[in-house]
Amino acid sequence: MAAAAHDWQSYAARIAESPSADALAAIEHELFGRKAGVLTVALKDMGTLSPDERRAKAVELNEAKKSFTEAIELKRKELGSPSGDQLKIGDGIDVSMELPAHEEGHLHLIPEFIRSIEEVFGRMGFDVWTGPEIETEDLNFNLLNIPPEHPARDGQDTFWINPSTSSGQGPNSKQVLRTHTSPVQIRYMQTHKPPFRMVCPGKVYRKDSDATHSPMFHQFEGLMIGKDITVGHLKAVLIEALTELIGRKVEFRFRTGYFPFVEPGLEMDMMWQGDLSESREGKWLEMGGCGMVHPNVLRNVDIDPEQWQGFAFGFGVERPLMIKHRIPDLRSFYEGDLRFLKQF
Ligand code: PHE
Repeated sequence: MAAAAHDWQSYAARIAESPSADALAAIEHELFGRKAGVLTVALKDMGTLSPDERRAKAVELNEAKKSFTEAIELKRKELGSPSGDQLKIGDGIDVSMELPAHEEGHLHLIPEFIRSIEEVFGRMGFDVWTGPEIETEDLNFNLLNIPPEHPARDGQDTFWINPSTSSGQGPNSKQVLRTHTSPVQIRYMQTHKPPFRMVCPGKVYRKDSDATHSPMFHQFEGLMIGKDITVGHLKAVLIEALTELIGRKVEFRFRTGYFPFVEPGLEMDMMWQGDLSESREGKWLEMGGCGMVHPNVLRNVDIDPEQWQGFAFGFGVERPLMIKHRIPDLRSFYEGDLRFLKQF
């Protein structure tokens, strides 16, 4: 099919002589209308041309399009009507209207607190590290001095993955959703030479659910190994870091506690400061466990306990946050209730 010849000159003349904004708009529509505009149709028809014809036609149409757009814009200014750009903006939008108040989103309390943990411990020279949430039985238990029949396993209601696969030590050991961040101690010590300081925040899983327990929660693990690291360092680091993280004065208490991977083992509590739950006022809330890394654990990762010693701790993330913001029920963190989330 031969291309229809167009009398572009006559359009140029009509634009230039257009008596009013309405007349101009009519010519614009005649040329650029979305369905039947002369240019629109001509551009669509190009598909039916031979390659040579198409090339020539493309040049012609593009030139026409460009020159008409410019000519119309010029004429519109001359006639004193708003320009095409202004018209587009003005289409149904009142540009003088005030912007509606909008809310900015923000991080959820937990990732926000995790960032502060990384920052506070980072400033104390701790290396920030991570580990997988699916662990082997070896890393979650055995290498931490918790052998298969050890009663400490009962204390951590474990989610096993494929419980039918073989038990025991070695590469075939069963998989678990990690019950604590302590396996990251092992991973870190397997890949680093002491002295070192490491902190690792992350998700952990236990079959547990009430006002202060959730089946998924967050912990941060800490590990510091050197030649002469003591319980004194452990207490100083924890009190310093947690006071800074809570942002106000809190009371701490250390009690003896039992964890197979530390000796001696301690638990640290913080005094509940809440005006929301009177029943908990004046009570202690457990933050987590800590202690001096057990010599067996050091031996399991080929670190000589005669030469090296240090501390480890594993704290909940939600618990100090509950104290910081006086949140009585830990489950509020995960319910996605905007009335709760917007308060922070
Ligand atoms: N992993 C222990 C728990 O989750 C806490 C802990 C970590 C205790 C490190 C001592 C040292 O209960």
